[in-house]
Amino acid sequence: MNADLADRFRFAQDLAEEAGALALDYFRRRKDLTVEIKGGLQDVVSIADRDVETLIRRRIAAAFPEDGILGEEQGLLDGRSGYTWVVDPIDGTSAFVHGHKNWCVSIALTDDSEPVIGVIRVPCDDETYAAQRGGGATLNGTPLTLDGALTLQNGLTGIGASQSVVPEKVGALISGLMAVGGNYIRTGSGAQMLAFVAAGRLAGFHEPSMHAWDCLAGYCLVAEAGGLCLPFPAKGEGLLNSGPVLAAGPGAFEALRDLAETSICLTD
Ligand code: IPD
Ligand code: CA
Ligand code: CA
Repeated sequence: MNADLADRFRFAQDLAEEAGALALDYFRRRKDLTVEIKGGLQDVVSIADRDVETLIRRRIAAAFPEDGILGEEQGLLDGRSGYTWVVDPIDGTSAFVHGHKNWCVSIALTDDSEPVIGVIRVPCDDETYAAQRGGGATLNGTPLTLDGALTLQNGLTGIGASQSVVPEKVGALISGLMAVGGNYIRTGSGAQMLAFVAAGRLAGFHEPSMHAWDCLAGYCLVAEAGGLCLPFPAKGEGLLNSGPVLAAGPGAFEALRDLAETSICLTD
């Protein structure tokens, strides 16, 4: 195992725990937060998101000053090491501000070709999902391994949706899923639902449009647990653009991809 990566993997898990604790402190005092509108009434942000990202950026800059950092709230800082951290300080902000427990801190590291580390911390459940390329995935230290047992029919499928997607697409996806005998769930955090795929709690997850900070940690987890993911750019301009996100266990991937294609969710 690459020593550089092993160091960063330990660091990422500690950082996710520290950032999660700070976010949880804000969550417990959320009635005092001023919620600001970002992209619309369904797309909000608060000081909690900004402070957690600031903490993460400060820790990364101190430990690995040559690494790049892309965070949802503060953008891209180019690095020189070939590694870029891709961070969502709070994924599931709407859930967070409305008092739901389904939010997480999502931290990925890319080597400028693919995610090589993925850590998702869900503070309200005291759960840490962690994966390193070639090293497998774990949930609170217990290895995660997907087999083909879960299908769209016998499992639940996570479907994400935001105001950036034409509502008819989401409707078509849900009706297509139900027509083949499946059913859907949406927790409010896409990153958490990707972690659920890695843990075998969901057969698969699809959202027509998300960003790198929403999905790269989850993608690393799913791939290391033995699942499959639709490619998402992990370098250059692509890192900043939105695109479809789809991941599933081996028993559901093809069927979910077909469904997404027939629901025209991948075509624009
Ligand atoms: C959002 C959540 C949500 C998904 C949106 C994301 P945010 O991230 O993951 O579940 O449907 O597309 O933007 O804004 O809470 O970090
Ligand atoms: Ca997010
Ligand atoms: Ca966020």
